[in-house]
Amino acid sequence: MAFATRHFVRAASSDAATAAAKKLLIKHVTIIGGGLMGAGIAQVAAASGHTVVLVDQSDEILKKSTKGIEESLKRVTKKKFADKPEAGAEFIKNTLKNLTTSTDAASVVHSTDLVIEAIVENLDVKNELFKTLDKFAPEHTIFASNTSSLQITKMANATTRQDRFGGLHFFNPVPMMKLVEVIKTPMTSQKTFESLVDFSKAVGKSPVSCKDTPGFIVNRLLVPYMMEAVRLFERGDASKEDIDVAMKLGAGYPMGPFELLDYVGLDTSKYIIDGWHSLEPNNPLFAPSPLLNKLVEEKKLGKKTGEGFYKYK
Ligand code: NAI
Repeated sequence: MAFATRHFVRAASSDAATAAAKKLLIKHVTIIGGGLMGAGIAQVAAASGHTVVLVDQSDEILKKSTKGIEESLKRVTKKKFADKPEAGAEFIKNTLKNLTTSTDAASVVHSTDLVIEAIVENLDVKNELFKTLDKFAPEHTIFASNTSSLQITKMANATTRQDRFGGLHFFNPVPMMKLVEVIKTPMTSQKTFESLVDFSKAVGKSPVSCKDTPGFIVNRLLVPYMMEAVRLFERGDASKEDIDVAMKLGAGYPMGPFELLDYVGLDTSKYIIDGWHSLEPNNPLFAPSPLLNKLVEEKKLGKKTGEGFYKYK
């Protein structure tokens, strides 16, 4: 019996050790794309003690990304260290020490544990990038995409590491938004999935998991809701102002659907709905909107161009 117990304890502890060995502790991260999302992800990863290389196409873009990160860090620090300005200054210094930049992804991925892609929302361009990096990154490196609307499985198939490939979908603005959707394709290994969940927690986020389905959780619910609001307005059932007021005061949403569409960008919303419509042409929730298409054609893309559903001056 004593032997059996000892044997059991040894087996159990060796099981725990095996499980622990299975997960990859992510320390070094390479982020490709220093735009809105990539810069935000780089910021939270560096702030939580990871060494980060941020990659983009030119030094000029990277300078802008770094400046944006510095300004964002100052805002975060003002709140977080309101009574301790010295600790705040130390936090900014340490975060920036963890962050370097590069214009050559292939030359910096050799020692990275995780590559997060946050480049342009175009499958061919993303696949080309992953295919190249697959040749230069070490065996253990996990690849993840921050895509909002493309299939992770299609990107994984551009590489030879389908089991070490998943989705990490952050939300804008990254330093403020607590959610990360961790996407598991049918080929993503449990070890990869758990490593991505742990990484999300390590950067201070709350991960949720979803299969590789269009829009994952948040956008799958949010985009059809916004499109329904446009259709309600197109039919003349209510004004856009009243729809916005209704959803804010009646549903407790912080923004109305038209305000949100203008904030997200009408081109981005059109791109997402068109992509889903081509995947499921008979799904009425994914039907294109003539009004949205017209505004995009007129380059009225929302807040970023000064006009979308509303004018911003
Ligand atoms: P963005 O346009 O602000 O930034 C993209 C950056 O990638 C640009 O700086 C561009 O120069 C760079 N880039 C393009 N091709 C590259 C390449 N081959 N190598 C290196 N850098 C390259 O775009 P944003 O908004 O940051 O979106 C990036 C990704 O994140 C997209 O897949 C998007 O769907 C996704 N996403 C966007 C959200 C948003 O609210 N904007 C929210 C969640 C996900």
